Amino acid sequence: MSTQQKPTGTPVPFSGRALEWIDQRFPLSSTWKAHVSEYYAPKNFNFWYAFGSLALLVLVIQIVTGIFLVMHYKPDANLAFASVEYIMRDVPWGWLVRYMHSTGASAFFIVVYLHMVRGLLYGSYRKPRELVWLFGVAIFLCLMAEAFFGYLLPWGQMSYWGAQVIVNLFGAIPFIGPDLSLWIRGDYVVSDATLNRFFSFHVIAIPLVLIGLVVAHIVALHEVGSNNPDGIEIKKNKDANGIPLDGIPFHPYYTVHDVLAAAVFLIVFSTVVFFAPEMGGYFLEYNNFIPADPLKTPPHIAPVWYFTPFYSILRATTSQFMYWLAAGVIAYVALIFVKTRLRGTVKAAIAVIAVLALIGMFTFDAKFWGVVLMGVSVLILGALPWLDHSEVKSIRYRPGWHMYVYLVFGVAFLILGYLGVLPPTETRTIVAQVCTFIYFGFFLLMPWWSTMGKFKPVPDRVTYQPH
Ligand code: HEM
Repeated sequence: MSTQQKPTGTPVPFSGRALEWIDQRFPLSSTWKAHVSEYYAPKNFNFWYAFGSLALLVLVIQIVTGIFLVMHYKPDANLAFASVEYIMRDVPWGWLVRYMHSTGASAFFIVVYLHMVRGLLYGSYRKPRELVWLFGVAIFLCLMAEAFFGYLLPWGQMSYWGAQVIVNLFGAIPFIGPDLSLWIRGDYVVSDATLNRFFSFHVIAIPLVLIGLVVAHIVALHEVGSNNPDGIEIKKNKDANGIPLDGIPFHPYYTVHDVLAAAVFLIVFSTVVFFAPEMGGYFLEYNNFIPADPLKTPPHIAPVWYFTPFYSILRATTSQFMYWLAAGVIAYVALIFVKTRLRGTVKAAIAVIAVLALIGMFTFDAKFWGVVLMGVSVLILGALPWLDHSEVKSIRYRPGWHMYVYLVFGVAFLILGYLGVLPPTETRTIVAQVCTFIYFGFFLLMPWWSTMGKFKPVPDRVTYQPH
């Protein structure tokens, strides 16, 4: 191997000289240092902190398997279904690639939901991480769009009718609705034109935005530094060299944790891929093994599980529910008037918006308000940094009963999810309506309940037991 003598006489290996050559032209070492080997993460991370890396892993799995699927898939209404069957039966390892991609879609949502729960429990969305959170919410919206567009591609019965139902929802928007859904479909019904544009969005438009947002998410996080289970800012305690006393380099200390998490994840993931890829109809719905038939509506159309909590909120919004909703709006505005010290002009603006909303509630169809509530139920996540007024970040130092508030919210969300896969009945609709109130109540009443109760003292340094 060729080596050069440094003036001091120490030989510099070729790899060292190559790196120096690159570093003079591109910030490779400095980027690696800033984001990996000298990124100081709090030393008290627990398993909840693995889900960000796992989300990255699933993103890579989806992109790589997606590239191979596109090599054999045909975005044509006459060929799409058969091309997926061809991938499953004839393309070497095609079945594995396809099952990894379909299981990956559900795995993505499981991992991202857990990643969000961590944020909720430890107040990771609070100052100074508001932008990290907002990028996260934008990622979540993109993921939903990506999954929705992708689901049409196999051109099965559920793909077809699911898209039909969701696109028709836009038709409920007053004045522009019918034209808007026509514009989205590119036809009067879901058709070849719809398949082509959904394909384009699924394989290039949304993934590009998604990757850009993930980069922004991590850059924003590394600018402010990671939160931790104690919710303590480690940057407040630094040594003489400016290194946080409670920080350890991300590499190798957390890369080794993340490799372990990835191994456990891949074991579970492979078990599903090899032994239960349909997951009892939750990951791949049985109706989707029947080719799309525009003349035959399936008796029960339900979206995939990860959409169902929001879909339940949509279905819960019946014309009866509008009265409860109106009562809720009036009570909430009254609460703002009595319990806040907002400026008079702000209060007046809130009152005007509320009156307009109330008029709208009894002018426009309940279906429209269902669409509004469904949209708001996702977007409200973005308001979290400004709704939580608690004096501490982490659940560890909040009053004990706050945990029950999170639990009730979590259970209501799961019930909504479960009801969303079932056909509606009168009782189920009432339960979904109660859960919808709990869901929104959790967020809208947060400025008050998050400040109530006896908070525990937050230590100056993170709590950590070496193992
Ligand atoms: C493709 C999806 C996503 C990827 C690849 C991703 C990736 C990451 C990574 C690698 C981290 C650092 C490691 C960690 O703290 O777990 C992180 C942190 C974070 N993410 Fe995500 N994320 C995704 C989606 C989301 C979503 C949907 C949200 C919330 C709506 C979110 C909110 C956060 C927050 C608040 C942090 C900082 C956590 C802390 O410091 O305690 N992320 N993300």
